Amino acid sequence: MSKPISSESSLFSHQETRELLDWFSRCGIDYPWGDNPTPYRVWISEIMLQQTVVTAAVGHFNRWMDLFPDVESLAAADEQSVLKAWEGLGYYSRARNLRKGAVYLMEQHGGNLPDEYRQLLKVPGIGDYTARALLSLAFGKPWPVLDANVRRIAQRLLARREWEKTDDLSLMESLETRIPEESPGLFNCALMQLGQQVCRVRTPDCESCPLKRSCRSRERELQGEIPAPKKRKISEKSSVLLLLISDGRILMTRREKGIGQGLWFLPAFPEGREEELSGELMHPEHGEAADSMILRERVHLYTSWKETLKPRIFFLKDHTDKIPEWMGPEGDRSRWIDLDTIDEYPTASVYRKILEDIPSLFLS
Ligand code: ADE
Repeated sequence: MSKPISSESSLFSHQETRELLDWFSRCGIDYPWGDNPTPYRVWISEIMLQQTVVTAAVGHFNRWMDLFPDVESLAAADEQSVLKAWEGLGYYSRARNLRKGAVYLMEQHGGNLPDEYRQLLKVPGIGDYTARALLSLAFGKPWPVLDANVRRIAQRLLARREWEKTDDLSLMESLETRIPEESPGLFNCALMQLGQQVCRVRTPDCESCPLKRSCRSRERELQGEIPAPKKRKISEKSSVLLLLISDGRILMTRREKGIGQGLWFLPAFPEGREEELSGELMHPEHGEAADSMILRERVHLYTSWKETLKPRIFFLKDHTDKIPEWMGPEGDRSRWIDLDTIDEYPTASVYRKILEDIPSLFLS
């Protein structure tokens, strides 16, 4: 067991806290949510930033603010348009929770975010991290945040190879002794940006670091080894995706639960069972024969699995409004969608790419 961090053996000195803030005023990047950090803007940006890298969040954030400029408009929006605005960020339950959170805020707080930790935790989708980010960035209260960047900085400062859950608690206490009362939001943003720009995962730039004098990893030249890279076991699978096209329309299914709930997907078939499928597709109700075409494979990466998607277009000769029987209960959630309107239906990024691969000659 490694020794817990104590606030006396603090991470860095008060002088370095000033240098950190000074570094941030010189080198910090301005992001749109930082210009006008209202509670609503901080909330939306922080939830987005839990899902993607900062640079990728900017476009989504600006579009979101055009569509849903405040809690009220988000609460009144339908789920499909909220999912559409989130498209590309992944992990869509965050978007659904934002909408639920907005409805809750309208009902319980007159459309405002509360400025109290316990009250914030009651809002759907807001956990410890987001509550702290809101309190410090939007309400100017001295609550430190602890994200992966801050944790990596601490691990390097202390040259700690192992990191337990309880270390997070001691780190938070230690940060509480450093966070300045007058600029808690700047302090938190400065640490997070220091992690992104300087104390980077693979290529730390120790010479530019305002905390370098306190860094034990740098002193011992261990910054390349700490933290040790994570080994993740990834399971792999492969599926054939069916793009059934009839008369300029494509058959898609809305997922009812689980990952991607509420999004529109293409029907999938496990690889190796295509024989069964072509028999079904040639069913008289879909015309005699279908021309088929193989599109480029795409890989769908998730945290712990990787799926190779092998899209195949079947061009059904006759117009049909029927949903094939082999789809089973999925058929009830399936719809022939006009390819001209397909952009309006939220889907996962990799599926959007596949839809964009459909050659235009197949459209109506
Ligand atoms: N990562 C998460 N929140 C952030 C913020 N407000 N600034 C920079 N990076 C972040």
